Amino acid sequence: MSDLEEIRRDFAERLSLARGAAALQEVRHDFLGRNRGRLTAFLRALKDLPEAERRTAGAEANRLKVEIEQALAAAEDPAAESERIDVTLPGVAIQPGAVHPLTLVRRQIEEIFLEMGYVVEDGPEAESDYNNFTALNIPPDHPARDMQDTFYLEGGGLLRTHTSPTQIRTMLKTKPPLKIICPGRAFRRDTPDATHSPVFHQVEGLAVGDGIGLADLKGTLLVMGRSLFGQRVQVRLAPSYFPFVEPGAEFSVSCFICGGTGCRTCKRSGWIEMGGAGMVHPAVFEKVGYDAERYTGFAFGFGIDRLAMVKYGIDDIRLLFDNDLRFLDQFRGAS
Ligand code: PHE
Repeated sequence: MSDLEEIRRDFAERLSLARGAAALQEVRHDFLGRNRGRLTAFLRALKDLPEAERRTAGAEANRLKVEIEQALAAAEDPAAESERIDVTLPGVAIQPGAVHPLTLVRRQIEEIFLEMGYVVEDGPEAESDYNNFTALNIPPDHPARDMQDTFYLEGGGLLRTHTSPTQIRTMLKTKPPLKIICPGRAFRRDTPDATHSPVFHQVEGLAVGDGIGLADLKGTLLVMGRSLFGQRVQVRLAPSYFPFVEPGAEFSVSCFICGGTGCRTCKRSGWIEMGGAGMVHPAVFEKVGYDAERYTGFAFGFGIDRLAMVKYGIDDIRLLFDNDLRFLDQFRGAS
């Protein structure tokens, strides 16, 4: 063993003094060379040792041989050594992502309506006052236009306060009959809290044609409600007012958690409020050049954020916008 230590020390010293390829080659010969290599000679002499000593000395000698070979290789080609790939290092695990809960819900809604023959339409988030309000029969003095509610843009225009302007855009470019849904972002000047966010998401629906009535609206909402929450839920329309529909309604689905008897999710009411709906006001048809004598249609609009919150039991809307991976990770594999 002391012989090996001596060889190790001498090698380290020789290596530290060797400059250039020829000198390194010399060192290699002196320690690993077939004829004059000191370590080679040591290994050769092992066979004369008694069994027990031979084992330990052999193992140590082999370790030193590897050490010397690596040190020489590194000195001969430093670049190659630094590029050496250690295939025994553990790999870096790639975490698969998760689909955002809002995207999960939006896709589900899109699928439901695509199956009923609807087309998905898209519209800009920066809109004209005309499309967002005037064409939707919202008069200039309507409170919804208030600076309190609407983000107005410098140089005119605004951030749409609902997805309804996409109705107008679609009708202006398409002749009836038509059936569309428009998912997208909307904006209102709300102070963020657990149930309010200045940016939120809606889905707009619009169907226009011959002889479309209120029963068609209710039947459509029922198909959607049951696809989302199960075959047992009911849909309820209650009178409400939106300038662009007449009659107007707010619609709710019976609570899919308690079945309508009252629980935390439905705030003991048995119903979960979804959004607004109604029959398209003739004034809106006139604005887009549709024959209001011939055509009828229904429209509805509701928030996707609230729907996702109810569906997944999320109690703060801000979680949907924080992009905290600890929250989003929980939706890996969800549907
Ligand atoms: N745009 C309305 C809102 O944001 C919802 C709605 C859409 C109501 C279509 C009736 C018809 O509150």
